[in-house]
Amino acid sequence: MKTQTAVKSAVLVGFMAIGLAMPAQTPTSLKHAYQGCFLVGAALNASQFTGATPRNFALITTQFNSISPENVLKWEVVHPKPETYDFSLADKYVEFGQTNHMFVIGHNLVWHAQTPKWVFEDEKGNPLSREALLKRMRDHIHTVVGRYKGRINGWDVVNEALNEDGTLRQSPWMKIIGDDYIEKAFEYAHEADPKAELYYNDYSLENEAKRKGALDLVKKLKAKGVPINGVGLQDHVHMDWPTADQIDNTISEFGKLGMNVMITELDIDVLPQATPSQTADVSLNIAADPKLNPYPNGLPESVQQQLANRYADLFAAYAKHCGLVTRVTLWGVTDADSWKNDWPVKGRTNYPLLFDRGAQPKPAFKAVIQAAPRKTS
Ligand code: XIL
Repeated sequence: MKTQTAVKSAVLVGFMAIGLAMPAQTPTSLKHAYQGCFLVGAALNASQFTGATPRNFALITTQFNSISPENVLKWEVVHPKPETYDFSLADKYVEFGQTNHMFVIGHNLVWHAQTPKWVFEDEKGNPLSREALLKRMRDHIHTVVGRYKGRINGWDVVNEALNEDGTLRQSPWMKIIGDDYIEKAFEYAHEADPKAELYYNDYSLENEAKRKGALDLVKKLKAKGVPINGVGLQDHVHMDWPTADQIDNTISEFGKLGMNVMITELDIDVLPQATPSQTADVSLNIAADPKLNPYPNGLPESVQQQLANRYADLFAAYAKHCGLVTRVTLWGVTDADSWKNDWPVKGRTNYPLLFDRGAQPKPAFKAVIQAAPRKTS
């Protein structure tokens, strides 16, 4: 447990780290503002947790009490070749989280993207049999989850298994193993670390058809006694989607099934939408066009304010479900780090997070702090 003095000095560092003058009673950090409601996390890239002076160290440790690995625990990074595991970055990530007493997330074990092609093939390049792929999945999960047993607190076990219409995506996992690949992944993860929390993670679950697909999936898993603790709503959102009502209903519905709900990859896109549908499909690559990049030299004040209001509304919607929502994680720390500068269109200047390119708090930061439930003392 932290002592009062440690908490006070952390708050003081908070003032200094974010360069804000706020009245003494106003919480100066996200994690303190939402204490007792949910954890507040950030996805980190390697430069933020490696090296003698990890980038934005003070900002990260003062603001967040949970971390997610943006890329370093994905299959292509930790297990690039059949007989080769490379934990050099993942070890540093986990060590960073432990040293700073954070709730450490593993992302992710079974996904169709950022997974090498060889995973699904034999030495001759032919598709693997169901049995061989299940064995490969089990070996991978046991090796990775087993290595961090007791140190990684929660795992995104299966990522993005659903299509937009709520049916199961025809990924190589699904095609070769069949739809029980999902329960197998959870079972293997539970065998490897029985105490770790295990989650299903996906995007656009606020949309009705996909939400229904995910609810049915969770019901099915629960009926079979599969060890699943929670559902991650990625929430790569836009200014006008999803609505607060959609979020509210989605969280409630998963809650009714006994799931914890986490917001796992929050960012807000202020740029013109490059695709007609709401998606976070990492394989998209849309041609650059100046019309899609309207703010290369800075965000106009009016849009900055709209972004702050949108952030406040989202956090208020999440905080309505304190406790059922156990964590809200931002997908990055500063606007400079965000994947949204290069996805789904390369080379745009986007503004999706709470800290600007100079790591200074944006109006949205203050709006999120002010949206926190008031604590009664
Ligand atoms: C993204 C990373 O942020 C990028 O750096 C990488 O190039 C592609 O993947 N859904 C997920 C995340 O579950 O793993 C993705 O992260 C964003 C969408």
